[in-house]
Amino acid sequence: MTIPRIDADRLAARLHALAAFSTSQAPAVTRVVFTDEDRQARAWFRACCEEDGLTVRVDAVGNTFARWDGTDPSLPAVATGSHIDAIPNAGMYDGTVGVLGALEAVSALRATGVVPRRSLEVVLFTSEEPTRFGIGCLGSRLLAGRLEADSGTRLRDRDGVTLDEARQAAGFTGDLASVALGPTHYAAFVELHIEQGPLLEQRHIPLGVVTAIAAPASLRVTVDGEGGHAGAVLMPDRRDAFLAAAEVALAVEAAAVATGAIDTVGTTGVCHVFPGAVNSVPSRCDVEIDVRDIDQARRDAVLARIAAACAEIAARRRVTIETAVVNADPPAACDPAVVDALTASCEALGLAHDRMISRAYHDALFMSRVAPTAMLFIPCRGGVSHRPDEYASPEDIARGAQVLALTLARLAG
Ligand code: GLV
Ligand code: MN
Ligand code: MN
Repeated sequence: MTIPRIDADRLAARLHALAAFSTSQAPAVTRVVFTDEDRQARAWFRACCEEDGLTVRVDAVGNTFARWDGTDPSLPAVATGSHIDAIPNAGMYDGTVGVLGALEAVSALRATGVVPRRSLEVVLFTSEEPTRFGIGCLGSRLLAGRLEADSGTRLRDRDGVTLDEARQAAGFTGDLASVALGPTHYAAFVELHIEQGPLLEQRHIPLGVVTAIAAPASLRVTVDGEGGHAGAVLMPDRRDAFLAAAEVALAVEAAAVATGAIDTVGTTGVCHVFPGAVNSVPSRCDVEIDVRDIDQARRDAVLARIAAACAEIAARRRVTIETAVVNADPPAACDPAVVDALTASCEALGLAHDRMISRAYHDALFMSRVAPTAMLFIPCRGGVSHRPDEYASPEDIARGAQVLALTLARLAG
């Protein structure tokens, strides 16, 4: 097999160019779905794909598919990709490595002059991050048919803007139901991503072949109490929504720790206090909670414990607490044949690799429902992610792209 040559400098330059589409000051990157920055980044990405000779299709939610036809375009294609949206105050590698690395891998394969049997598609998934609509993997979830178009249509951001309004304003029209692709659409899916954890770096291993992805869940909790003057309302009379929410956050921590398993994690990452004035007793609090585990039953038991804690806190503090489960997804097992293709590619290049699980979720979690799927991890410095100081070296990124290229060639025949 001809070894595809990755242009590490071009890939690094493209990652830096993409990082510039951001609403926060470098090195921080913030790119929320369907904002101007996201739209500009998408237009830039599309131009890169076209410059590299790929044909671009965009679906009704903005998932973008850049295709290189194989010798038999009627066969299900092999797909690879990730996301380019970035949470507030993020770094520049989460997701982007898997999109631009995929483009570089496919371009490197094109440059070998050997056309595979199956077509290859580079996919940019819309809104893997839950920042705007509260739900992760929005694009891949819809694509895999794991979110009904009806429910999708009802999603709203914090300003009350619906998903339909936001996507249409960004130029993505059409019926949301048309986003779903059947289980025979793709022959395989592979996602390249930074590890977002420290194991590869600690073990001095350049590549991780992912065998399973942990089960994520998220909750939106609304606490309603009673507001009032911070000087005049006496302490025994208070029904402070924020204090109840603070107890909910502590209950999340307690529920996660109580499993005794290192794989259970719980985070309260959003807490909006209304009206948000220093001299006003909080009357309402909107809280968002993230719970994960590699064991779904244990994760669900944590959710039940949090629900019980909310009921107890509400009664004791005389507030109302409404909890809504935004998503509670099962974990995913990667496909043995795709795992083997990744492993064989590492071995063909003489590169050490480890098998590992992904504690973060990825679009691969949903792609695994409709295609044989696996992931490839590269190290990131200190295991840091979702922070501006997130870093992966150009060498590690290029190595990942090269293994990806070889794997795509294997899978595409
Ligand atoms: C993805 O960004 C995750 O939170 O795992
Ligand atoms: Mn992320
Ligand atoms: Mn990601």
